[in-house]
Amino acid sequence: MVRAWYMDDGSEDQRLEHHLSPPKFVSLDDLHKETGVLYRKLDPKNYEGEGKLEEIKKERGYSYADVIQVSPEKLHNYEEKIKNFFVEHIHTDEEVRFVTEGSGYFDVRDKEDKWIRIEVISGDLLILPAGIYHRFTLDSKDYIKAIRLFVGEPVWTPYNRPADDMQARKDYVLQRTKGFTSK
Ligand code: LAC
Ligand code: NI
Repeated sequence: MVRAWYMDDGSEDQRLEHHLSPPKFVSLDDLHKETGVLYRKLDPKNYEGEGKLEEIKKERGYSYADVIQVSPEKLHNYEEKIKNFFVEHIHTDEEVRFVTEGSGYFDVRDKEDKWIRIEVISGDLLILPAGIYHRFTLDSKDYIKAIRLFVGEPVWTPYNRPADDMQARKDYVLQRTKGFTSK
């Protein structure tokens, strides 16, 4: 089960949970209403047999897929990449990750610019809309394996904040004002 919560402002280790005190959790419904983030639960061991991933790919047009592993041993330039993942940024396209092993945190901004931390574990498929400010960190277990999905030729370029003049950002903010509807 994916969990999400509002973060404290503490500057300690980014890999910790960073709950408010007392913790303030966010339901998946509210997460979607606030941010447009979508979530699907899949079988991490049998996602091919299950057929749900194939359905999502078809439905959303994800024609590209590859596998990324983030750990000190598996990722080339680990230290630099991990640092960049945690710099607040947007993309011009959705960021889609299906976690098959390990875990980590995606942080996204709510309407008032507060950080919501989304914990992902194996079986969680997360869709961050284009233009959403976000960042990623491993948790203290230091390992995640995920399938990255994309519509067409993948573009992974991050645009660090401030990126408010970019079309993708403007489109996102407009969508947020109107209200996120697509489930
Ligand atoms: C990315 C994640 C880490 O852009 O936000 O790959
Ligand atoms: Ni990103």
